[in-house]
Amino acid sequence: MAKAQRRKTASKEPEAKRTRIFCVVNQKGGVGKTTTTFNLAAALREMGRDVLAIDLDPQGSLSTSMGLDADSLQHSMFHVLTSTIREDDAVPLRDILLMTESGVVLAAANIELAGAELELARATMGELVLREALQPMSGLFDYILIDCPPNLGLLTINALSACHEVIIPLQADYLAMKGMDLLMQTISMIKRKVNYNLIVGGVLITMADLRTLHNREVIESTKQALSNQVHVFEPIIHFNVRLKEAPVVGESILTYAKTSNVADAYRAVARELIQSEGLRLAPPPEVAALRKKDDVA
Ligand SMILES: Nc1ncnc2c1ncn2[C@@H]1O[C@H](COP(=O)(O)OP(=O)(O)OP(=O)(O)O)[C@@H](O)[C@H]1O
Ligand SMILES: [Mg+2]
Repeated sequence: MAKAQRRKTASKEPEAKRTRIFCVVNQKGGVGKTTTTFNLAAALREMGRDVLAIDLDPQGSLSTSMGLDADSLQHSMFHVLTSTIREDDAVPLRDILLMTESGVVLAAANIELAGAELELARATMGELVLREALQPMSGLFDYILIDCPPNLGLLTINALSACHEVIIPLQADYLAMKGMDLLMQTISMIKRKVNYNLIVGGVLITMADLRTLHNREVIESTKQALSNQVHVFEPIIHFNVRLKEAPVVGESILTYAKTSNVADAYRAVARELIQSEGLRLAPPPEVAALRKKDDVA
């Protein structure tokens, strides 16, 4: 009986991946959103997961960090969103995907994306455009990570409406804590109106400088204050200049300074995300084909 059952299980068709979509959000600028998106994506990839990183910031920093000349793109997230609004399927998301050095697949953006805000504002249900554009990716990747711009405009609202979980990079200081209230209110609003199952995956303390007692105390009290309402990741990202250097050469910290404390911290966060994940399956043909593409960024 047990044998028969085992045979039955073994002959099962591989199931599609359970794609988990995260957006990396904080309306405050320069807190480590892009750095976290890239390095967390690279850490998940290093652990054998298939990862798609979406640049949803007109600054195009994620695309540049991942080694791409973002200004030379023929098609980018701008075209994906506007073609989804027009329902003409002219530029579906799969057409702009690029395999990068790190093994993470990238949907790139540049300054053109700023123009999409206006079109999203005019569109009916403009907050759900990204969710629709991402639909065909469901089951192809283990993780989709969306890098948001430093505001709570329509691009960020689209990311919050399309994702399952939010990751909030936060620099531990008094002003950053004040900004958290507004962000949490926005997340609650999205949850009530369009994305009922949205959860905060965690707050990640970034750019932590532990050299003075004062800084260590601020970080500790920030962690304590937040942990009443949200999960705070145990690993924290220290201030480390190597994180500034790595994107200049288009590398993640995992290869640029592979044994650094920050590389290990991003790996630890990735492990935390993976812990609740189900059985990993072989990459689907679409992803395998992308790996073979010559136009690697
Ligand atoms: N832990 C760190 N230690 C030192 N420098 C860091 C760290 N994390 C990020 N940086 C650097 O700080 C700057 C801002 O980081 P990043 O671009 O990731 O922030 P951001 O929140 O995405 O910014 P924006 O709001 O403009 O999109 C970059 O130069 C980045 O290389
Ligand atoms: Mg950024």
